[in-house]
Amino acid sequence: MTRQLRIVVGITGGIAAYKALSVVRAFVRDGHDVNVVATDAALEFVGRASLEALSRNPISTGLYDDVANVRHVQLGQTADVVVVAPATANTLANMAGGHAHDLLGNILLATRGRVVVAPAMHTEMWNHPATQANVATLRARGVSIVGPETGNLTGDDSGVGRMVEPDSLVAACYAAAHSPQRLDLVGKRILISGGGTREQIDPVRFLGNRSSGRQAVALAEAALARGAKVSFVHAFMDVAVPAGVDAHHTPTAAEMLETMVQLSPQHDIVVMAAAVADYRPVDISDEKIKKSADGAPVKLGLEQTADVLATISQSPGRTNLIVGFAAETASGSALEELAREKCERKRCDVVAANTVSWTEGIASHDNAVTLVWRNTPKIERITGDKLSVAHRILDMLV
Ligand code: CTP
Repeated sequence: MTRQLRIVVGITGGIAAYKALSVVRAFVRDGHDVNVVATDAALEFVGRASLEALSRNPISTGLYDDVANVRHVQLGQTADVVVVAPATANTLANMAGGHAHDLLGNILLATRGRVVVAPAMHTEMWNHPATQANVATLRARGVSIVGPETGNLTGDDSGVGRMVEPDSLVAACYAAAHSPQRLDLVGKRILISGGGTREQIDPVRFLGNRSSGRQAVALAEAALARGAKVSFVHAFMDVAVPAGVDAHHTPTAAEMLETMVQLSPQHDIVVMAAAVADYRPVDISDEKIKKSADGAPVKLGLEQTADVLATISQSPGRTNLIVGFAAETASGSALEELAREKCERKRCDVVAANTVSWTEGIASHDNAVTLVWRNTPKIERITGDKLSVAHRILDMLV
């Protein structure tokens, strides 16, 4: 982390409060200024001394502590991030209602920083329509809700309701502090392919295409900023593989097929943005093919490659969402028709189609994409730089 952040950690009264100790510790380890605000109920679960020692600041509990400094306003106004962990069902209800009957409630109303919330409660409480409505209200206000996860709960029961692990929450807070986007992909695994494959002809030549990989990289960056775990399967690109992805280099269509088939089932969303060769030489010459002396044309025997998108989309029992791309020289309604036909034929869920020409679509920084869904008349047209287009595509998938 380069910039020091001012972070308020609000701890409320749940058994998961012990995990907040690790969160505080990680922020301090990374050099940030941390103020802990604990509710009275939180102090039933974790001790004031531990929190003060780990945060290296006095902890605040009451609205009337240090009134001379108008502490509730000052802490909220100066915070880059206010993280509430764990957030009980009651805390979520208070936040949604804008209640300010304790110090944390006041800080949450006074802050201009990003608010990140890690709910923790029993499954029934999480699933209750009141809690779900409160979470929806908070999300709509730009609050990042991280988790909860599924696992063992406090009693003998297990289910959804476990607070996320401290490392995930800390990463989500850093992403929130440095990104204007919402963290709506935390806990999601996204597999993105990009770049153009190359099919060898002989040791010095290949059949390739003009794909730059820019739209795939923009998708990976957007997904990372929104909290997703990203796997990136790439062939050849003009741009660097983004930091923070699990990268796999697959130079040829056959290698990309193998890697995508293996990784696809482990991901919630797959976006097939790579330009995969449709044909490869039947034989790859081990020696450089020499120019013919008489100037006669050379014939190259080509065979079709397997279709990666169709293969993963038609894998038996698949449950993930698969998005294909279609680069076409057609435009307007002809482009839409080709996209729908491609979506139906390959049996992916969505196709993002764009018009390409010598000057449009490929290698440029901007893009104009039409999204079509299989089996619905739904359509969405997006234009802009490739990062904005990536975010709009993710908005639609979310
Ligand atoms: N695709 C693939 N494997 C291939 C060829 C294409 O997975 N061997 C994927 C691309 O990554 C893209 C989608 O299929 O997501 C559409 O690619 P495109 O080249 O537009 O379509 P094709 O199926 O190759 O059909 P055509 O070239 O005839 O338009």
